[in-house]
Amino acid sequence: MLNLLITHATLPDGRTNMSVAVQDGRIVEVAAGLLAPAHDTVDAAGQLLSPPFCDPHFHMDAALSYGLPRVNQSGTLLEGIALWGELKPLLTEEALVERALTYCDWAVAKGQLAIRSHVDTSDASLLPVRAMLEVKKRVAPYMDLQLVAFPQDGVLRAPGGLDNLKRALDLGVDVVGGIPHFERTMGEGAASVKLLCELAAQRGLPVDMHCDESDDPLSRHIETLAYETQRLGLQGRVNGSHLTSMHSMDNYYVSKLIPLMAEAGVSAVANPLINITLQGRHDTYPKRRGMTRVPELMAAGVTVAFGHDCVMDPWYSLGSGDMLEVAHMGLHVAQMTSQAGMRQCFDAVTVNAAKVMGLGGYGLAVGCDASFVLLQARDPVDAIRLRATRLKVWRQGVLLSETAPATARLSLPGRPAAVP
Ligand code: FE2
Repeated sequence: MLNLLITHATLPDGRTNMSVAVQDGRIVEVAAGLLAPAHDTVDAAGQLLSPPFCDPHFHMDAALSYGLPRVNQSGTLLEGIALWGELKPLLTEEALVERALTYCDWAVAKGQLAIRSHVDTSDASLLPVRAMLEVKKRVAPYMDLQLVAFPQDGVLRAPGGLDNLKRALDLGVDVVGGIPHFERTMGEGAASVKLLCELAAQRGLPVDMHCDESDDPLSRHIETLAYETQRLGLQGRVNGSHLTSMHSMDNYYVSKLIPLMAEAGVSAVANPLINITLQGRHDTYPKRRGMTRVPELMAAGVTVAFGHDCVMDPWYSLGSGDMLEVAHMGLHVAQMTSQAGMRQCFDAVTVNAAKVMGLGGYGLAVGCDASFVLLQARDPVDAIRLRATRLKVWRQGVLLSETAPATARLSLPGRPAAVP
């Protein structure tokens, strides 16, 4: 007898009336109209069954710290970094762990089962690193948490920056991070990209850098990142996060840059909620949107995913761990309003995000992990439109979360009683 059988599901690729059979935490069959004895049978009633949402870019060490010790008055990236610097001496490991675990609860309830979180390695104490490694251990039974060694204050700019980052990797952090646009000069930024890619190559680790999170069209560290990726044979293991300067770059230069990225196998993560909030702050009018060139990168074959980046922290006061809200904003900012474009935005928070993170066993195919989300929606576009209720969330065949369907009971004069 099967452990679990989902029937009458609609899949993201448009197939309807599909059944998904689960045994020992894995998908053993996906077929139309399949009925077989199972310990648990769930009738999806035509609703969308999706692989879980993945957040390929987050800052869990800062999450839910909004207002500590004060709020960001200017709303800029730079005041956010300064504010995080004020908060860091006040942090305790216990409070960091507690806030992160609370956020993971929110995320699971929203169908997020994988998060790549950057963790600040700037301080010699590595307090955030130790706290996030503890969180990684605690959530492992229900969530894949990847950690990126992120030198927030600059790996070359901050005293001891490189040594601290290496020690974080020694402790078990998974990915090499960077922040070239925050180093002192363009030259030092490029040098930081080179040395961090070399470090990743030596250690056999992936790379995920905050790269060109700036409105400066001459911030071109992504070019160096693509070059180093090719030079060191790191194709498929390197991601450029943010890349907001590409929004403001000269079109001729970008016509050369995007093919270079595609050739190097560098992926890209845009963070729509944060990019639209932080970028263009030095503009009067017109104000730039700041998000990187998502549809153009996708058209060139670059894997592009969307990240949440921040939830209630020094940079962003809102957010709830809902990757459909991220996709909704991304769709608007990138003007990806065609049917195909909207579905690409759904992919950006599911399959593409999983690809950026290098997740194994991801998807709705035989042999994949039985990890999926049942949404109160008919298809991916409906899911984004409604930021649909995550009715049920399973990981490896185990039910982790249930949410009651959203309904409203109307009593309107002249209208029949209805539930919209
Ligand atoms: Fe970030």
